[in-house]
Amino acid sequence: MTRAQGHLVDEAATEALGAALQRHQPARGCVHLIGDLGAGKTTLVRGWLRAAGHAGAVRSPTYTLIEPYEQLGTPVFHLDLYRLADPEELEFIGLRDWVDAGLLLVEWPARGAGVLPRPGLSVSLAAAGSGRDVSVECHSDDWPAAAQLIQAME
Ligand SMILES: Nc1ncnc2c1ncn2[C@@H]1O[C@H](COP(=O)(O)OP(=O)(O)OP(=O)(O)O)[C@@H](O)[C@H]1O
Ligand SMILES: [Mg+2]
Repeated sequence: MTRAQGHLVDEAATEALGAALQRHQPARGCVHLIGDLGAGKTTLVRGWLRAAGHAGAVRSPTYTLIEPYEQLGTPVFHLDLYRLADPEELEFIGLRDWVDAGLLLVEWPARGAGVLPRPGLSVSLAAAGSGRDVSVECHSDDWPAAAQLIQAME
């Protein structure tokens, strides 16, 4: 496991990190996005999806749990598990199919514990001054070392 930390001064910096991560993304796997309400998880996903070629809006799928972006070169599935009542619900709504089909970007991953795949990459965001502190952890050889990912956005 490798870990690196950085600071994101504003919303654009959070989007830039998302774009940098997209450039290194594997075709399959699970990314855990950790942080409180308003930490910037969806903002990071927005930068990620824009870099992947998605031109439309990106919102947290808080009520639908999942928003698929299957038209992209690598299909991306954006999950927000904030309102997930029971991790097993994920199996009923087709988690296995998404895992096989593309890359998962997951907000509130702890709510899916036991059912959600382990992360190849974890990104933790926390408010710090008027910006956000970020910690990136790479758990899999599918991703470059964390320090390289942090540098990639600069
Ligand atoms: N680095 C940053 N510095 C300051 N503000 C930021 C930064 N990154 C994102 N924001 C702002 O934080 C706010 C909340 O962001 P966002 O919706 O992405 O949070 P979230 O973590 O997805 O929250 P939720 O858990 O409710 O889905 C937005 O107004 C966004 O512009
Ligand atoms: Mg969100």
